[in-house]
Amino acid sequence: MRCVWWTLAAGALLCLPGGAGLDNGLARTPPMGWLHWERFMCETDCGKNPSGCISEQLFMQMADMMVSNGWLKAGYRYLCIDDCWLATQRDENNRLQADPTRFPGGIKKLADYVHARGLLLGIYQDVGKATCAGYPGSQGFYELDAQTFADWGIDLLKFDGCNYGTLELLEDGYRRMSIALNRTGRNILYSCEWPLYARRLTKINYTEVAEYCNSWRNFDDIEDSWTSLKYVIDFTASLQGELVAAAGPGGWNDPDMLVIGNFGLSWDQEVTQMALWSIMAAPLLMSNDLRDINPRSKALLQDQEVIAINQDPLGVQGYRLLKIQSFELWEKPLAGGSLAVSVTNRQEIGGARLFPLSRAMLWQGLACKKTCYLTQLLPTRYEYGSFNATFFLQLSVNPSGTVLLRVD
Ligand code: GLA
Repeated sequence: MRCVWWTLAAGALLCLPGGAGLDNGLARTPPMGWLHWERFMCETDCGKNPSGCISEQLFMQMADMMVSNGWLKAGYRYLCIDDCWLATQRDENNRLQADPTRFPGGIKKLADYVHARGLLLGIYQDVGKATCAGYPGSQGFYELDAQTFADWGIDLLKFDGCNYGTLELLEDGYRRMSIALNRTGRNILYSCEWPLYARRLTKINYTEVAEYCNSWRNFDDIEDSWTSLKYVIDFTASLQGELVAAAGPGGWNDPDMLVIGNFGLSWDQEVTQMALWSIMAAPLLMSNDLRDINPRSKALLQDQEVIAINQDPLGVQGYRLLKIQSFELWEKPLAGGSLAVSVTNRQEIGGARLFPLSRAMLWQGLACKKTCYLTQLLPTRYEYGSFNATFFLQLSVNPSGTVLLRVD
């Protein structure tokens, strides 16, 4: 099922059966896991920063945490390495190799460790001559690198787009790596940054991107701040006509990592990220320190009812319906005619404000035409119960916070 959001006034949604993302059997729902970049970046000095440097020890510890602290059980399955894992040179056969001091066991051994715990291992490379941090890129070696990843037991590739040369090389590289991964015969989820880089030079053909990639970044890197979060949310809404149509089982827009559990977001802003990433059917890749995370952020990230909205099998990306008096109303059609609805208060002065939500503001195709059952999931769970077709609620929403509801 593919849905196209088409007019703001009518709030109309056109849903058509049919094609979706890359047909490799993977990412039928948005991928969930952990990715090192936002929190750990390119720290390579293990002498000075032993617990925060990019090393096999960091990933082994995160793997242990993912299993022992309920993350895997909650659905977070992909443990992903980002940039700065590589040695500065390829080996004598041109094969990639991990930095020998920080990954003394090599990637294959790390993959075995991760797999033994029921997790999957993701890795990072770049379509160009060098990665964004300057390590050897894949240009000229797509087939060899895809085979190396398959030999090591890699389950996901994040493929960055720095140092690509020309637009033709960039686009061709993304296509070739997709084909090369497929030819290895191993299930390797393919996470692209193609549109983020190509957008600067051309109009994106999302139908094509979705044919080659399981997920794709559209905008700049997320940071641990409310400013950054707002930028990603606004950018997504401004392009939703294109983005919503492109998403579906097998291929997802990636607004970048969840930064919940770090330093920069207030509680209400953490709620906003979790609610909106679920509404947007975004990959849920956390970047935080699972060895040290506060219980409230952990409970938010592991909330099964919120995750169910993100992972809903219909696979439709939600969209912004309305922007009025510094409120934003978003909705996401769910399987069986249900709906997820969120209201964000974007007025950053004063206290909580009331938003009047009525049935008439929501998707007209909503199945509960006679009786709707309403449950508030965030910021706290509350069952409003059954309503007739003309329900009307006054939702209290904190500044920079979000109320997330489910309508069944
Ligand atoms: C780019 C990507 C980031 C991260 C860094 C690593 O900026 O967009 O997500 O992978 O490179 O260098």
